[in-house]
Amino acid sequence: MIPFGTTPDGRAAHLFTLRNAQGVSADITDYGATVVRLFAPDRQGRLADVTLGFDRLDDYVARSPYFGCVIGRVGNRIAHGRFSLHGKSYTLALNNTPGGIPCHLHGGLRAFDKAVWRAEPFTRAGEAGLRLHHRSPDGEEGYPGNVEVVVTYTLTTDNALRIDYEAITDQPTPINLTNHAYFNLAGEGAGDVLGHMLTIHARDYTPVNAGLIPLGHVAPLAGTPLDFSTPHPIGERINVPHEQLQLAGGYDHNYVITHAPGQPNALAPAATVVDPASGRIMKVLTTEPGMQFYTGNFLDGSFPAKLGHVYQHRHGFCLETQHFPDSPNQPAFPSVIVAPGETLRSTTVYRFDVC
Ligand code: GLA
Repeated sequence: MIPFGTTPDGRAAHLFTLRNAQGVSADITDYGATVVRLFAPDRQGRLADVTLGFDRLDDYVARSPYFGCVIGRVGNRIAHGRFSLHGKSYTLALNNTPGGIPCHLHGGLRAFDKAVWRAEPFTRAGEAGLRLHHRSPDGEEGYPGNVEVVVTYTLTTDNALRIDYEAITDQPTPINLTNHAYFNLAGEGAGDVLGHMLTIHARDYTPVNAGLIPLGHVAPLAGTPLDFSTPHPIGERINVPHEQLQLAGGYDHNYVITHAPGQPNALAPAATVVDPASGRIMKVLTTEPGMQFYTGNFLDGSFPAKLGHVYQHRHGFCLETQHFPDSPNQPAFPSVIVAPGETLRSTTVYRFDVC
């Protein structure tokens, strides 16, 4: 563990390195439970940092578009920043305005990504891990209930970064946790990801309106430029004139992950990404019902990042495993409400390989 700076309000942050025998390593800070660096080998064994981010805490505090952090309490958008639960309505910060339409995004103004978590490193049978704890008080960012969250990162012997999420509450409240890593399998700063080959194990998605809020139904992907059920380069169809791509300025959509019949909560393959040039492969598995595929449409090169690199439009992609956006207002979607006495449990694995 090494120091990673101090937040403007005086909280000390730290950086922890998890490493396995194959040379895969992850640097994680307790600020936002954020993956700062993730090194994976290419087909020649050369390591590159495959996640976008910053070298300094100050940049995470000042301008991070959610690079690598844990998102909560509720990942993704909540329409009009409002929801009601058991007859009571709740008002949340409006911190995002896609299409000029205000909504609540990623837990609000000072959400889990801006907390300094309590970190506990551990090792277990050749694996290295970091357990991060956070307590979110009743009323924080407008949400009800005291919530205790534990996020466990484990670097496994088979080159995976496994993320286990757990949460409990003392009042019914919505919780939808994810990690917001931006990946570039050629290495961060190596340009755009349009040539990466992507497969998403989904047949349906949740189409959105101009404010990027789901319309409320699931729609088939077949026949649309959003269909990645067979491998396609990310950039192959990104500029096809299709209403959904135009509304989002690229891909920024929630895919309904195909889970085995009768096993909706089992760990299932969600996506495979291949960078043909380096040979790096990333497989994503999740217990979650959905996954947001986002192509960094809001990256605009307006700030220097790691090693002075500048990230333009589509220089990274996110695969944010999650429950569906706006779930607190969408009765047809799987519920994100956690009740006292229940434990939310969720697992996502990002596994690296080469071809
Ligand atoms: C998610 C959203 C995007 C964008 C990013 C953060 O991926 O779906 O629209 O807000 O977070 O920039």
